[in-house]
Amino acid sequence: MAQTQPGSAFQKRHIDPGRVAALAGALDSQDASPGVRRLRAWAGRALAVRPGETVLDVGCGTGSQTRALADAAGPQGSVVGVEPNPGLRAIAEERAAGGPARFTDGDAFALPAADASVDVVWCERVLQHLAEPERAVAEMARVLRPGGRVALIDTDWATTILHPCDPEVVRALTAGALAGTANPYSGRRLVGQLCAAGFEVDDRGSQALIQDHRSVAWPLIRMLGESAVRGGLLTEERRDAAYTALAEAAERGALHMSVTMFGVVAHRPG
Ligand SMILES: C[S@@+](CC[C@H](N)C(=O)[O-])C[C@H]1O[C@@H](n2cnc3c(N)ncnc32)[C@H](O)[C@@H]1O
Repeated sequence: MAQTQPGSAFQKRHIDPGRVAALAGALDSQDASPGVRRLRAWAGRALAVRPGETVLDVGCGTGSQTRALADAAGPQGSVVGVEPNPGLRAIAEERAAGGPARFTDGDAFALPAADASVDVVWCERVLQHLAEPERAVAEMARVLRPGGRVALIDTDWATTILHPCDPEVVRALTAGALAGTANPYSGRRLVGQLCAAGFEVDDRGSQALIQDHRSVAWPLIRMLGESAVRGGLLTEERRDAAYTALAEAAERGALHMSVTMFGVVAHRPG
């Protein structure tokens, strides 16, 4: 399998039916994370979707947030999750069965909506997977009506904290994540991208995605470790010493692993 980098499996050009279950599992654990829940709740309050509104959830994955947006827009509203991965879209459709949320194939660069026809766009943890995120933000501006609102939420992978671990080793481990993600600094870029596309910023927020120390993402740490060794950034000895230190810390509940997510809520003037 060519996809050894953690950030790349969600990229559209890497869609692989054999990985859908793993991706859905990763999204489910993120849905359950208190940081994701708090950031979604904050952005949801700031956007304040009203009954009857038209909403797009761009890159909706398994559709958990699409369903929440559909609840807010009510039966008179129209809420569509745009998702290019057919396996994730099928899961989203199955989980939303009987409810008002709808799902469609589509791309952030060519949204399935007419100019100025949408009230609200939600786009969460998608831009990090796009090499040209500014084109996607311009496309959101095209479909939103004047006064329409947008919420962008994304991770900034340079904020990865792994403790206790030699900072040099952490740098080597995170270099793999940065190299494997199309737009790894997405979180810090959101506000500038919105301003460049003509939006007015209404609010900004952030939360850390903290890994539970009891079920810490060993597959992720190992993937980072293997990739750092392969890339010549770390010797096997230093990698193994880091694994040992992290495992011991996890045993006594002292392990900390997190990455910070940022959110921006804005509107199209008019
Ligand atoms: C990390 S997941 C986030 C899913 C969902 N927004 C959430 O927060 O649970 C990234 C999503 O972006 C989608 N994606 C990747 N490239 C895309 C593109 N060009 N246009 C739209 N969605 C894309 C992936 O298929 C995946 O569902």
